[in-house]
Amino acid sequence: MCGIVGYVGKRDAVSLLLSGLRSLEYRGYDSSGIAVHTGAGISVVKRAGRLSVLEEALHERKVKGKCGIGHTRWATHGVATDINAHPFLSRCGKFAVVHNGILSNYLPLAAFLRERGVSLVSDTDSEVIAHLIDYYYTGDVLGAILRAIADVKGSFSLGVISVFEPNVVYGVRKDSPLIVGEGEGEYALCSDISGISFCDKYFPMDNGQVARITENGVTLYDFKGRKLPVSFVKRESDILDERELGTDDMLAEIRQIPTSLMIGHDSFPRERVRELFAEEVKDILVLGCGSAYHAGLVFAEAMREVAGECVRTEIASEFLTERPCVGKDTLVIAISQSGETADTLLAVGRAKEAGAKVLSLCNVRASSLVRQSDCALITRCGREMAVAATKSYVAQVQALLLICLEYADIKGKIAPSALDDFRAETAALSDKAEEVLRSESYIEKVALAAKDAEAVFFLGRKGDYAAAREGSLKLKEVSYLFSEAYPSGELKHGTLALMEHGVYGVIVATDPALFGKNAATVSEITCRGASAIVIAPASLAAEMPAGYVLCIPDAPPLFSPILSAVVMQLFAYYVAKARGCDVDRPRNLAKSVTVE
Ligand code: G6P
Repeated sequence: MCGIVGYVGKRDAVSLLLSGLRSLEYRGYDSSGIAVHTGAGISVVKRAGRLSVLEEALHERKVKGKCGIGHTRWATHGVATDINAHPFLSRCGKFAVVHNGILSNYLPLAAFLRERGVSLVSDTDSEVIAHLIDYYYTGDVLGAILRAIADVKGSFSLGVISVFEPNVVYGVRKDSPLIVGEGEGEYALCSDISGISFCDKYFPMDNGQVARITENGVTLYDFKGRKLPVSFVKRESDILDERELGTDDMLAEIRQIPTSLMIGHDSFPRERVRELFAEEVKDILVLGCGSAYHAGLVFAEAMREVAGECVRTEIASEFLTERPCVGKDTLVIAISQSGETADTLLAVGRAKEAGAKVLSLCNVRASSLVRQSDCALITRCGREMAVAATKSYVAQVQALLLICLEYADIKGKIAPSALDDFRAETAALSDKAEEVLRSESYIEKVALAAKDAEAVFFLGRKGDYAAAREGSLKLKEVSYLFSEAYPSGELKHGTLALMEHGVYGVIVATDPALFGKNAATVSEITCRGASAIVIAPASLAAEMPAGYVLCIPDAPPLFSPILSAVVMQLFAYYVAKARGCDVDRPRNLAKSVTVE
C-alpha cells in the first residue's frame, strides 16, 4: 500500500532512492516518483506504471542531488496517471511530499485550500498535504509541518523536503509504518527496512513522531514539537533475506522453504511458549488477514485434533465490531507476515482495549504489530518480496503447530510417546519439503494441463480443507483463474452443480484415515466431466482414482498442510507463468495492506 523512501548524505540520492523503491515495489506498483534537491530547487520526476518506466525517464532526464524522497504507489484515490503519482509539489515548488496512508478529511481540506487560491492538480487525497505545509509556512519548516498535520485526519506516513532546507528530509508517522536508518555519514527513511540495505542501524518511528534528518543526525519530535530521545538498534541480517537474481521472487521464496523450516525448527522458543501457556488462558482467538488467517485455520484444526481445544479464528477486518467477545482471559494470537496490515493492527488494538493479551506471530521484528503486542514470536523465514505469501505462510503454520504441541503437552492433553513422535517429525519437515521441491517439474506439467481451466475448486476435509483455502487463494491471486475452496463434504449441497468438462478439482487428500471419502470425492467430480488433481501421500498415490496425483512424502496429517502448501504454491506459480501473468506483482494487489 504505497512505499516511501528518503535519503540525505554524501552519495547520489537518485540511485539510492531508486534502489529503495525497487525493494518497496511490492507495496504498490501503479506509479512511482522521486523529488530531489538539485542545488537549484526541487526536481520531481514521476511516472505511471512500473518502476522501470521511472528509471527510463530518469535516464533521459538527468537529475542529480544528495537529498530527496521517493514513492511507489498503490492507487486508492485517483487512477494511476503521471499526475496522480507522488511526490506532490506545493505552489512554486517550495515543498515536496510523499504519502503512504489515507486521509479521511481531504475533501474539506481541498475546499479550504481552493478558497485560498490554491489549485490542486491531482485526484489524490495526498496532494493537500504539500499545499497545507506551504500555506502554514512562515519561516519554520518543522512548525509548518506540525501545523499542517494537526489539520489532517486519517493515516499517514510522510516524507517531506523543502527548498528552505536543502539538506534536510522530514519523516512523519501516524498509523502507517516508517523506519529511520543510519549508514556511514548518511541517513534514510523508509516504509520498511528492506529499502535501506545500506543502513546498518535503524529505529522504527512511533505514531505521533516527526523525524528531522540531516547527514549529521536525526532529531525526533512529537506532534507538539517537543524533542524526543533517539535510539538506533543494530540491524540483523538473515541468509534468507538474499534475493536469487534471474528467478521470480515467488519461485525463489518457495525454494527457500526447506531452509526456512530448518531455521524455524531450530530457533523455536519452546520454553517461552510454555511459560505463556503455564498462565491461565481460558480462550484463544486467532486474528489475521489473507494467508495469515489461513495459517490460523490450520492451527485451529490442529488444536482440536491434538489438544481437544476449541480455538476461534477471525478475519481481522470482520473482528472490528462493537462486541469483540474477548476479555482478560483471552489470548489473542495475531498473525501477520509484515506486521503492518491495517486491519490486523486495528483488531489487535480493539482486543487489547477489551483486556485481552496479545501474542503476535510476525516476520518483521521492527513492525508495528510486534511493538503493539504483549509478546511476540518472530518467524525467521527472511524477507518475502513476492506479493503472494509462500515461505511466510509455511513458517507461520510451522510455528503454530509447534505451539500446538507445547500447549497440548503443558495441558496434559497428549501422551508423551505421541509428543515424542510428533517432535521427531517436526525435525524431518525440512527434508520432506525438499522432497516436494524435487517434483517441481511434474507439478509444472500438471499446471500446464490446468492453465485454461474454466474454474478450479480446491476440496478437502479438516486440516486439508484449511490447507485448500490457502491453495485456492494462491491460485486466484497470481493466475487470475476463478477458484474457490470447499469442504469436500459440502460438494453435494451445491458446488457439485458446477462440475463439468473444463472445470478442475484439486482434492487435498493427505489423511489416510479419510482415504475412502477422498476417493469418493474424486469419483463424484470426474464422473460429471470435471478433471481431478489429487494431492496425496506417496503411499496412497497409486490407489487414487485421478488423472493427476501430486505426491507429498508420508507424514502425520497434522503436518501435511506444510507439505501440501508447497505443492499448491508451485502449482499456482506454474499456472500463472503458463498464463503469462506477472507472478510477483499480481494486478490490483499489494503485499502490505496498510489501509483499512
Ligand atoms: C496481502 C498479501 C497476502 C497476505 C495478507 C496479509 O493480501 O498479498 O499475501 O497474506 O496481505 O498480510 P500480512 O503481512 O498481515 O501477513
